[in-house]
Amino acid sequence: MAKSFDLVSRKVEKVKTKNREIKTEIPVLESLETVKQLREYEPLSMSGQPLVVWNKGKDFNVSDKHGNKWIDFSSGVLVANAGHGNKAISKAIINQVSRGLLHNYCFPSEIRAELVKKLSEICPEPLKKVFLLTTGAESVECAIKLCRTYGKKAGGSKKIKIITFEDDFHGRTMGAQMAGGSEKAKEWIVNLDPDMQQVPFPNAFKYSWADEQLENYSDEKCFNMFLDHLNEQNIKPGEIAGIMPETFQGGWVQMMPPGYARILREFCNQYDILLVFDEVQAGFGRSGKLFSFQHYGIVPDLVCCGKGISSSLPISAVIGRPDVMNLYGPNQMTSTHTGNPVCAAAALANIKYIFENKLIENSCKLGGVCKEYFGRLKKKYPDIIGSLQGRGLVWGLVFVKNGTKDIDTDLAHEIVKKCIEKGVMLFAPVGSGATIKVCPPLVITEDALLEGLEVLGEAIEEAAESN
Ligand SMILES: Cc1ncc(COP(=O)(O)O)c(C=O)c1O
Repeated sequence: MAKSFDLVSRKVEKVKTKNREIKTEIPVLESLETVKQLREYEPLSMSGQPLVVWNKGKDFNVSDKHGNKWIDFSSGVLVANAGHGNKAISKAIINQVSRGLLHNYCFPSEIRAELVKKLSEICPEPLKKVFLLTTGAESVECAIKLCRTYGKKAGGSKKIKIITFEDDFHGRTMGAQMAGGSEKAKEWIVNLDPDMQQVPFPNAFKYSWADEQLENYSDEKCFNMFLDHLNEQNIKPGEIAGIMPETFQGGWVQMMPPGYARILREFCNQYDILLVFDEVQAGFGRSGKLFSFQHYGIVPDLVCCGKGISSSLPISAVIGRPDVMNLYGPNQMTSTHTGNPVCAAAALANIKYIFENKLIENSCKLGGVCKEYFGRLKKKYPDIIGSLQGRGLVWGLVFVKNGTKDIDTDLAHEIVKKCIEKGVMLFAPVGSGATIKVCPPLVITEDALLEGLEVLGEAIEEAAESN
C-alpha cells in the first residue's frame, strides 16, 4: 500500500525568501484537526498527499492560514497551468456566475459555443469537433466508445480491439482503468475485457530497444517490438479499432521516440485504426508545446483533454475528426454537465490567458533551465536517480537503490517530505511510488524555478546522506 504522511509535527528551520516562507513546525499543529477530520470522514485513499492544508493559491505559490508559503511544483496535479488563483479566470467565473446561469445541460449557451469554437481553432486539422465533459477519465471513456463505434462501422464486429500501453494511466473509472497499464490497479475488475490489451511503451529506462541514445537504436526496430507484441497476443491489425497512448507516460514523464510515433501514425492509417492521444495531463503548454503530440510531428484522430484546459474548474474534452465525432445522433452522446457554463467560462479565459501571456513559450524556455539543472543532479547522484525525463515544465526523477533498477519509494517519499518542510510543494511520488514529479504552473519565473530546484537538490542531498 502507498505510504501516507505522518500526523506528527516536526520543528523545522525557518525560511524567508521572496518566494517561500516557513515559520511554523510542519505539519502545522493547529492544522492537524482538519487533517484528522478528513481522515475520519473520507476514504483512506484520500490520505496520500503531504499534510499542508491549502488555503490560498497565487500564481506559482500556495499558502496555508499560518503564514507559510510554498513554491508550487505540483500545479495541484498538473492543473493550474495558468497559475493559481488566476485573476482573468476568476473574473470570467464571477462574470458567468453573476449573469445567473450556473447550469444549462445541453441546451445551447453562448459561452459553450465560444469555447468549442476556440478549442477547434487552436487545434490542427482534422481535430475540429469538440465534445465537452467533466473529468479526464470521462474523456477517455468517450474516446474508447468512439473508437469501438468507428471500428464496428468500418470493419464489422471484430474490429473492436483497443490497444493501450504498459504503465499507462488513463483514470480510475472502469473503462479507463482497463485501458491503464497497471495490472494491480485493475485486479478489482476481475473479468477484464479481452479486447482491451496492452503492449510495452517504448520506455528507455525499462527497455534498451527504446533507448535512442544507444548506437544500435532504430525507429523501425523499436516499432517492431510493438508489432511483435501484437503478434504474441494474436492481435491482427485489421481487428484494432483504436490505439491510445498517453502522449507521454505520466509515471515517468516518458515520451515516445518521435520516429516511433510517426510509424505508429502510418500503421493506423494503413489499417484504418483511430489514433488517440491521451493529453489529459500533457496538454495546454505543459511540455513546451500546446499539445505534447506536437513534439512528434503527427496529429491523432482524437485527443483527450482535461486538467490544464481550465487551470481550475472541472472540465474535459474529446476533440476529434468530425466524421468520428458525429457517429452518434442527437441526444445519444451527452452528459449532464457537458460544457457547464461556469466551467466553460473558466476554460475559455484560461486558453486566452495561456496564449496572450505566452505561457507555452515560457514553459519551453524554462524547460531548458530544468534540463540543465537536473542533468547536473543526475551526474551528481548516478546511483539514486535512475531515470530523468522531461520537457518544458514537466519532469520526472525516478529514485532507485544503489545504481540498480530497483525503485526506492522510501527515499522518494523522504525527499518530498523534506521539500515540504523547506517551502517547496510537491505531490507524493507517482508511478510505482518512486517518481518525483516537478510540474510548476507555467507562470513560474526563472528565479523562483531555480530557487525551488536548489531546494529540491538540497533535499536530495540530505535524504541521500541519511539513506
Ligand atoms: C493521462 C491521464 N489521463 C486521464 C486521467 C484521469 O483524469 P481525471 O482524474 O480527471 O479523471 C489522468 C489523471 O491524472 C491522466 O494523467
